[in-house]
Amino acid sequence: MRQKKVSRYTVTSALPYANGSKHIGHLAGAYIPADVYVRYLRMKGEDVVFICGSDAHGTAIPNQALKERTTPQSIIDKYHVLIRDSFAKLGISFDIYHRTSEPIHHQTSQEIFLTLYNKGLLTEETSDQYFDVTAKVFLADRYIMGTCPRCGNPQAYGDQCERCGSTLSPSELINPRSTLSGNAPILKPTRHWYLPLQQYENWLKEWILESHKDDWKTNVYGQCKSWIGAGLQPRAMTRDLDWGIKVPLPDAEGKVLYVWFDAPIGYISATRALFKELATNVRQYATPRRNFGEVKEEDWKKYWQADDTKLVHFIGKDNIVFHCIIFPIMLHATGEYIVPDNVPANEFMNLEGDKMSTSRGWSIEMHDYLKDFPGKPDVLRYALLTNLPESKDSEFTWNDFKDSVNNELADILGNFVNRVFVLTHKYYQGILPDPSGYELQEADRRAMAEARNAYESCGTKIEQSRFREALAEAMNIARAGNKYLTETEPWKLQKSDPQRTETILINCAQIVAMSSVALQPILPYTERKLREGLG
Ligand code: MF3
Ligand code: ZN
Repeated sequence: MRQKKVSRYTVTSALPYANGSKHIGHLAGAYIPADVYVRYLRMKGEDVVFICGSDAHGTAIPNQALKERTTPQSIIDKYHVLIRDSFAKLGISFDIYHRTSEPIHHQTSQEIFLTLYNKGLLTEETSDQYFDVTAKVFLADRYIMGTCPRCGNPQAYGDQCERCGSTLSPSELINPRSTLSGNAPILKPTRHWYLPLQQYENWLKEWILESHKDDWKTNVYGQCKSWIGAGLQPRAMTRDLDWGIKVPLPDAEGKVLYVWFDAPIGYISATRALFKELATNVRQYATPRRNFGEVKEEDWKKYWQADDTKLVHFIGKDNIVFHCIIFPIMLHATGEYIVPDNVPANEFMNLEGDKMSTSRGWSIEMHDYLKDFPGKPDVLRYALLTNLPESKDSEFTWNDFKDSVNNELADILGNFVNRVFVLTHKYYQGILPDPSGYELQEADRRAMAEARNAYESCGTKIEQSRFREALAEAMNIARAGNKYLTETEPWKLQKSDPQRTETILINCAQIVAMSSVALQPILPYTERKLREGLG
């Protein structure tokens, strides 16, 4: 891979559907790793924006409205707030948490659709699509279920099989049925606009398969390779639905943009909204986490159009095709936008042996966790990070959760920091003496080197999106400190050798400081306490 010059970062986390609460599996997949990465970049003084918001479209929303006997609008209003607040309480430090129901997003999506349309890059086709005679509607992907032609899963959706991860088109399903009426749908002609994905195969081969062979995660690279290898097909970018963004063309009554066309554009609209709020000093969706200085509304463009911007999408594995193939093709085809530099997708986190699912009631919802463990966001961050599904599915169990809190956070970090603080208070009333006669012995050098190595590799691991290892390294700093205290036993020397005791405690305080800095992006609440403790 060519090293590119990076002057700024645009980091996004998948826009959650505002059709319900989100669980800790989502959190582990796309939000906590992104937050660690962004906090780290901010600490380094990098120019970064961290973007997210609610996905207000797709059939998931009207579906939920049917279930709750209310309107799609009240569904997105309710869940937008619930999800936004849960993220905030868990310390996910978005610069903006926007929503795709905003006019600026409708406008941005329609603009991009028209750019592609006017360049002649969309094809118009009339084809037979499934129609539910009882409900009198065309059935968009999620309203059709059937058997997956690849793996035989009887609960596959019209656009995707969640068991084997294949993207599907409704016509591929075996024994299709309407989720509205339960009946078998009939075929009826309808007109749509398609993005001819197959025309971009060579570009994808060069951009992903050649340029990102070494820096993309193997799970992501592997999926892309198999899709591109299997050959791509034109994909409809519009749907027959009454919930969504209107297709901005005459004669397109009753048609809206496909949710996977508009949702990723949501990252762009949210960035636009952020700079608008910064420039006009209005706060509605933005919570800027650093000083952006003097900005103009048009500054959003740098984050999406300048070649020296690094664009990184954090997502779960079910979103790979959209972020690595379809959205990049859209961006590339406009001729105006940059494409992602990395898409560090995670696998799934299971719960006590079974797939997490909000609808089946087998999950730990973010807001429930916050209710049951108020004021303990770092404990969850820790437990999820040690168990992140980075290269394969992982498993959350309450037993591991207890262990990670008691045996790791408390025993390793808590214990070390406590001992240092207690001794410093006891011997020096909390004020470390001047390091006079500060002479390092072999044990000191070893401990400091161990701590420093762990500290440095913590940063390297974050840059490589290896967050599990980054956390382990951060904890190794405290481990080195514990070992050092056990070896040198300063509490036995205080009377006989006060100078040696000072040296040891000064070194320990430095190790606490290193832990604190390393943990800042990972466990921000704990870090604040450490920093206060250090004064
Ligand atoms: N709402 C989608 C999901 O929950 C994710 C959308 S990501 C975006 O699976 F890129 F489209 F915004
Ligand atoms: Zn399947």
